[in-house]
Amino acid sequence: MIVVGPFGVSVRDEPLNAELQAGLAAVEARLFEATKSDVPFITETAQHLVRAGGKRFRPLLLLLAAQFGDPHAPGVVPAAVVVELTHLATLYHDDIMDEADMRRGVQSANARWNNSVAVLTGDFLFSRASTIAADLGTDAVRIQAEAFQRLVTGQIQETAGPRAGEDPIAHYLEVIEGKTASLISVAGRLGALMSGAPESVMNVMALYGERIGTAFQLADDVLDIASDGQESGKTPGTDLREGVATLPVLRLREMAAQGGSPEDRELCELLDGDLTDDARHAEALARLRAHPALGVAKSDAWSYARLARQTLDPLPDVPAKAALAHLCDVVADRTV
Ligand code: IPE
Ligand code: IPE
Ligand code: MG
Ligand code: MG
Repeated sequence: MIVVGPFGVSVRDEPLNAELQAGLAAVEARLFEATKSDVPFITETAQHLVRAGGKRFRPLLLLLAAQFGDPHAPGVVPAAVVVELTHLATLYHDDIMDEADMRRGVQSANARWNNSVAVLTGDFLFSRASTIAADLGTDAVRIQAEAFQRLVTGQIQETAGPRAGEDPIAHYLEVIEGKTASLISVAGRLGALMSGAPESVMNVMALYGERIGTAFQLADDVLDIASDGQESGKTPGTDLREGVATLPVLRLREMAAQGGSPEDRELCELLDGDLTDDARHAEALARLRAHPALGVAKSDAWSYARLARQTLDPLPDVPAKAALAHLCDVVADRTV
């Protein structure tokens, strides 16, 4: 069993393993190229989070999707760079929105410099992604632009919260499909498109991306509560502090509303209060970590991961299919 990339996906097939390693290395080199500016300060801010690492999950998914066509087609690596740059830009912006101080194990750009530097660096990265996409054809440009629109819509819907009378869990799922699954789906779609894979494969990869993308964010929201920050490279409890109700909190509220124990209702009250207060925040986090609602949210993540795996059924039996199936388990079970 060989581990490919920083995400720890095991690929049993040696030729596929070698191809993925080479593909990820090419993406890495192009990422550094694409984030260079004539202005040294911009290079510094833009490469700050490139250097810090990250899982490179979206490029890996794109490279796997490209295995169903010609994985060496000239658009494959640039498309992976477009997707990672778009993702990277959203991280700069998201950390401003979430007032996060840590990202990828280093200081966030807003903490290291300030909000203006972080927002403009994000814009710079988006523009570099667009320049590279322009060489990939109008379909690629449209696919990237539409995902970006969905992503931003998801982020705004998260900020706005559910409408009066709207089911909070349905709202939350709509948010994460927009802010996260959209771009992960594009990774699958562009990998198939750029490699010249059949349209049927492209459709499978798009749907797989939506589903594994939803599982990915559900697992991330569990990690925000459960992790100690060492492995995730982010400050735990950021969602709670910002008042973003993620699935573990929504499942708790659901349990409390359907009867629940006095402790459940007490925890709900704590969560509804001011969590910018350090002591209250620490107590809420500790109690949520020990609450069964966290397990329910974890099993929700597993359900989407299983759905993603089923999506792969129509694909031909090649080693990339097995790797994509394995990726579902890695995502649902992730600790980074
Ligand atoms: C973080 O994405 C934002 C989410 C959509 C959860 P990743 O978890 O892929 O972040 P990196 O790229 O590994 O840092
Ligand atoms: C981020 O969602 C989604 C993006 C589009 C960047 P989160 O706010 O949950 O992601 P993290 O936890 O900061 O990575
Ligand atoms: Mg965030
Ligand atoms: Mg956020």
